[in-house]
Amino acid sequence: MQKIGVLTSGGDSPGMNAAIRAVVRSGLYFGLEVVGIKNGFQGLIKGDIEVMNSRSVADIIQRGGTILKTARCEEFKTEEGFKKALNVIKIFGIEGIVVIGGDGSFNGAEKLSKAGIATMGLPGTIDNDLAYTDYTIGFNTAVNTVLYAIGNIRDTSSSHDRANIIEVMGRRCGDIALYAGLAGGAESIIIPELNFSIDEVCKKILQGKSRGKLQSIIILAEGVVENARSLEKEIEEKTGIETKLTILGHIQRGGSPTAFDRLLASRMGGKAIELLMQKKSGRALGIKGNKIIDMDISEAIAMKKELNNEIYELARILST
Ligand code: ADP
Ligand code: F6P
Repeated sequence: MQKIGVLTSGGDSPGMNAAIRAVVRSGLYFGLEVVGIKNGFQGLIKGDIEVMNSRSVADIIQRGGTILKTARCEEFKTEEGFKKALNVIKIFGIEGIVVIGGDGSFNGAEKLSKAGIATMGLPGTIDNDLAYTDYTIGFNTAVNTVLYAIGNIRDTSSSHDRANIIEVMGRRCGDIALYAGLAGGAESIIIPELNFSIDEVCKKILQGKSRGKLQSIIILAEGVVENARSLEKEIEEKTGIETKLTILGHIQRGGSPTAFDRLLASRMGGKAIELLMQKKSGRALGIKGNKIIDMDISEAIAMKKELNNEIYELARILST
C-alpha cells in the first residue's frame, strides 16, 4: 500500500475534521501518500482530489464541519457513475480509501471494497443510527448542543410557566432525543421506535404542574409526528398550559466537537490506517465498551439498530 484517499460523505458531523486529521497524519507517519477527495463520492467521479500533507490538517481538530466538504451524490449509485469513480481511482493510483459518513456512505464504501479497493468506513453522523457501534462521531457533540438548548429554554420557560416541545434531529433514530432527554431531565421523550400517547404527555405536564414544576420539557424526535405545530396546539388545548415549539434543526450539526468526539474520531482514524497497513479491506470501525473495534462492513450495515430500553425506562422513571 502506497497511496490512500480520504473522503467525507452524507450529512456532516462534528468530529469529521478530527477524523480526517488522524487519517492524514497516521498515514503520513507510516509512509503513505495521502490525498483528500472533495465532496464525498462526487469528488471521486470528478477527480476533485488534492494531495494532503501534515499542514493541510493543521488547526482543524477543534472545528466542526469538514474541510473536505461533503455531498450526497446520486450518480455514484449508478453503474455508470461508479465506473467513472473506479477509473479516477485508477488514474490517481489510489489503493485504499477511508470513507467517513453514515449508513448510506457505508453502502458506497462496501461497493468500493467489493471492486477491489481497500476500504475503511468511519461512522460520521450525529444520528447514532449504526447498530454495530456504541457511538458514531458527532453524536456526543449533537447531544451536548441539545442540552445547551434545553438549558436556555428552561430559563425562559420557567419565567412564563410554559411547556416546551423541542424537536431534535436523528432521521429514523431516536438516540439524540433519548440521550438528551435523559441528560436534560425531560418530562416526555417522543421517539420513532415507540408509539406515544398525547394524553400521556399531557398527563405528565399536568402532574408536574400540580407538584409545583415551573415548566415541562418534551423532546420530540423529528419525523414522529407529521406536524409539530399541530402537536403544540393540541397539548396547549388539552392542558390549558401555554406550549412553545422549538425546532433545533441544523444547529445540531455544527459546533466544535466535544472531547469525546475528538478522541473517538482520532482513535478510529488511527485504527483505519493500522488496518490498511495490514492489507485489510471492507472494515467498519466502531467503539464497544471503550475499545475501538472493526468488523466486516456488510455485516455492520446489515445490523438492525435497537432502542436502548434501559435508558428510555430510566428517563421515564426519573421524570415522574
Ligand atoms: P449518510 O452517509 O449520512 O447516511 P446518505 O444516505 O445520503 O448519507 O448517503 C451518502 C452518499 O453515499 C450518497 O449520496 C451516495 O453517494 C452514497 N450511497 C448511498 N447509498 C449507496 C448505495 N447503495 N450504493 C452506492 N453509494 C451509495
Ligand atoms: O443524518 C444527519 C441528519 O442531520 C439527520 O439527522 C437529518 O434528518 C438530516 O441529516 C438532514 O439532512 P439535510 O442536512 O440534508 O437537511
